[in-house]
Amino acid sequence: MTTNRTFTMIKPDGVQNGHIGAILDHITKAGFRIVAMKYTSLTTTAAGKFYEVHKERPFYKDLVNYMSSGPIVAAILEKDNAVEDFRKIIGATDPSKADAGTIRALYAKSIEANAVHGSDSDENAAIEGNFYFSQLERY
Ligand code: CMP
Repeated sequence: MTTNRTFTMIKPDGVQNGHIGAILDHITKAGFRIVAMKYTSLTTTAAGKFYEVHKERPFYKDLVNYMSSGPIVAAILEKDNAVEDFRKIIGATDPSKADAGTIRALYAKSIEANAVHGSDSDENAAIEGNFYFSQLERY
């Protein structure tokens, strides 16, 4: 896995509210190349595994239920300094604290329904990308 990749999901609210196109446009206009992409959904078991790192947090159960409540879009993105630059364009986890013009400020509703996920490290970008795309060598 190269360090110029990150992983994102458009969460159920982003899909449900019709923001897939606008969010992908925002991402590609910011200079990211879509390396792999999938429209899919998570079972509660899969969502629980994806967010296992948060399993001791009070919001874990709600998060797992929420993330398995509807379709999502999973994608691997490529750009220099991808992890850090992507976190800048999505904004703070809590959309009420996200900078104006960021994806969460524009499209998110709440800290849980916050439109998109972005990996927080190169290591997690690789783990999360592999969670969805098992034949990464193809991309
Ligand atoms: P995400 O970047 O996908 O990583 C973990 C998610 O947990 C986070 O976005 C939020 O959607 C969700 N979450 C729900 N409640 C909280 C909270 N109080 N603090 C942080 N994350 C939360």
